[in-house]
Amino acid sequence: MNGDVSRVSPIEDREYSRHKFLKTAASVGAALSAAGIGGAGVFTRYAEAQPTLGFVAFPTYQGLGDAAILQFAYQLELLEGRFYQFGVEAGILDPFAATQIAAIRDHEFAHADFLASTLASLGAAVPPEPQFVYPPGVFEDPVAFLELAATFEPVGIGAYQGSAGALQSKEILAGAGSILGVECDHRTAIDILRGISGPNFIPFQRSFTFGEAVAATTPFGVVV
Ligand SMILES: [Fe+2]
Ligand SMILES: [Fe+2]
Repeated sequence: MNGDVSRVSPIEDREYSRHKFLKTAASVGAALSAAGIGGAGVFTRYAEAQPTLGFVAFPTYQGLGDAAILQFAYQLELLEGRFYQFGVEAGILDPFAATQIAAIRDHEFAHADFLASTLASLGAAVPPEPQFVYPPGVFEDPVAFLELAATFEPVGIGAYQGSAGALQSKEILAGAGSILGVECDHRTAIDILRGISGPNFIPFQRSFTFGEAVAATTPFGVVV
């Protein structure tokens, strides 16, 4: 811990302007690119996706099937969980932020466990953990770390919401809904850690198509 709370907690005009832009950006691409880390936007392809699961033929969640939807969501949870784990282990966060991020990390792994057990109950394979690749320097700078976190959470929210209408099982839908609510809490918590006052400016969550969720996650190693 460097104890440098001032780096992540004050409201800065630059951050507030960036936040307003993110919230009003018309496209996911614009929002994610605006959150560029060290001059390299998150759309930069940090890792070559390995299209081994055969999901890329589905631009939307319709027809993908419950198992494939959960296999994708499982990887997304691990992507976030490892990111938060590494952030905590890096010791770059002040104590308050570290406590919050550790709790969020635990949530993501609990979500992954739930998805894995649900896949097992369906008789479907649990994908191996991808070889995730995160942007250079993101675990050395708390501002960059939280900025990337602020882009990951809306992807999770959008992916769960976007897939809801395609899920066949109401039980799985209910489980996904309970995760979605917590992902919204994560986004708000991270906005607070970024010093954004009044963090929830969204009356409705934005849904992602499957194609959008894939585009936002495969650069980090998620396999489709
Ligand atoms: Fe999660
Ligand atoms: Fe999350």
